[in-house]
Amino acid sequence: MKTIRHFLKETDFSLSELETIFERCHELKSNRGKSQSPLPLAGQSWGMLFFKNSTRTRISFDVGLGELGAHRLFLDLNSMQISRGESIADTARVVSRYLHGMVIRAYEHEILEEFAREGSMPIVNALTDFLHPCQIYADAFSIAEKLTPSVPSLEDVRGRKLVFIGDCDSNMANSWILGGCMMGMEVVLCGPDHFQPGQRIRDLVNASDLQGSFRFTTDPGEACSNADVIYTDVWVSMGDEGEAQLRKDMLQPYQVTRAMMSLAKPTALFMHCLPAHKGEEVESEVLEMPNSIIFDQAENRLHMQKAILATLVELNR
Ligand code: CP
Repeated sequence: MKTIRHFLKETDFSLSELETIFERCHELKSNRGKSQSPLPLAGQSWGMLFFKNSTRTRISFDVGLGELGAHRLFLDLNSMQISRGESIADTARVVSRYLHGMVIRAYEHEILEEFAREGSMPIVNALTDFLHPCQIYADAFSIAEKLTPSVPSLEDVRGRKLVFIGDCDSNMANSWILGGCMMGMEVVLCGPDHFQPGQRIRDLVNASDLQGSFRFTTDPGEACSNADVIYTDVWVSMGDEGEAQLRKDMLQPYQVTRAMMSLAKPTALFMHCLPAHKGEEVESEVLEMPNSIIFDQAENRLHMQKAILATLVELNR
């Protein structure tokens, strides 16, 4: 029986497959809306199951699947039998009989792994508490595009210093550790000791054969010095609301400010996966600086996810 390829984590594609995905993303972006655009998912039906709220991911997948020719169904969690206790395993086995693939956002990464293990269709990670791989691929493409707009490639991100500031024990930090190391970047995590990268991501990186490196520091000045990219994310994610004030107090020294940006290279990009809490993890003015590429990142989710889906379907044929 053929092994089904999924996209649950950054390293589920090889580096050479990721190079092709970058090329495809650039092509899809350049040719969007043209009548001869390819429809590699024509005749397929894809489900979208979201256990958590979403604006960017939900809309960009819905639009992207449609533009690739797929019929798509937004599966309302509250009206699925999962909400009444039907197991993930049985759900995966049943819906695999109807669908050609699923895009899933969940709290526990294990839910996606169970869908992938029990079902017989490709699963795409639309964010879990552990990783957000579609975001990292789109963000890396956005960095490459700013550096070499004509033909963005993986070569453009290799060796770049990316500083992630804030909660370094979060899905976005984990994804930068894994994705950045895969792409040969220098990833610096900066935050309070309490929010250091966890053992699970360290084990995953150690078990993978990756080109880049990552390190953790509590010193924002040292971290930001000579950076190519400064990245942050919200301090209180969905599910963390119970400790909101504690998090804000501990993370306050790690707010991205204009002063912090001035320590980086003059060309340094500011990035945020959005939504942002203005004035909390980042000064409002930083979001509006000319080098802030937050809306390009958001747009590239669409093009990159189309490239990921087209590649996944091709590899599973
Ligand atoms: N960045 C991101 O995943 O946004 P949404 O939560 O709106 O999908």
